[in-house]
Amino acid sequence: MLRAEGLVRTYATPAGPVHALQGVDHAFTPGRVTAVMGPSGSGKSTLLNLLAGFDRPDAGHVRLDDLALDAVNETRLAALRLRHFGFVFQASNLISVLPARANVAFPMGLAGVATGERLRRADALLERFGVAHRGGALPAKLSGGERQRVALARALANDPQVVFADEPTGNLDRASGREVIGALREVAADGRTVIVVTHDAAVADAADVTLAIADGRITSVEGGDGAEAA
Ligand SMILES: Nc1ncnc2c1ncn2[C@@H]1O[C@H](COP(=O)(O)OP(=O)(O)O)[C@@H](O)[C@H]1O
Ligand SMILES: [Mg+2]
Repeated sequence: MLRAEGLVRTYATPAGPVHALQGVDHAFTPGRVTAVMGPSGSGKSTLLNLLAGFDRPDAGHVRLDDLALDAVNETRLAALRLRHFGFVFQASNLISVLPARANVAFPMGLAGVATGERLRRADALLERFGVAHRGGALPAKLSGGERQRVALARALANDPQVVFADEPTGNLDRASGREVIGALREVAADGRTVIVVTHDAAVADAADVTLAIADGRITSVEGGDGAEAA
């Protein structure tokens, strides 16, 4: 289980300190989609960056099961991210010169999976998200919805425990957005922890747990069992 414990992050700026996170506690339940909602500047990206180990807290801890991410060096963190975390961004961030299938296979290559196995697994993941027929297409040739489904397939390449999505429906029309939401729910049904930063009410409606964040603090937790609230 991924846990935030007393997370504090303060940015030093020429204009003085910015208190981006002021003590965030939450346990992210596996098998559920957790939506993180809040106004611009409330600390959502900061929280996601800390949870994913891209940045380190000034106080508090991020724990993945028994491991405190702040106790791990950059090399081990990168290895841990590769194997245990998957990412989906607003603008899919697929590698533009690689076809969809090679994009999905790419993180497996980094993890040392053999070529044949990489392509077999990439095809199975594309199939799962209904884009197997687009495996040979470059990202620029895909629709927005297809691109996000390929990005989700890539996020699952190394069978991660946690999938992070930052505004995954932000660039999509409603119908494509619904497909991506359905796919995220399926990813959670695998038993994975899915954490989605979103402004999209449709995503929040489909989430199992919704965290509201304001001024670097969690102001409400809806859904879940209550015991995980701060
Ligand atoms: N690298 C940074 N340096 C200085 N201030 C930052 C930095 N990143 C974010 N901030 C500030 O921290 C606060 C929270 O930002 P952020 O986590 O990006 O919020 P959100 O994702 O909810 O819009 C904002 O006031 C933002 O301006
Ligand atoms: Mg942000």
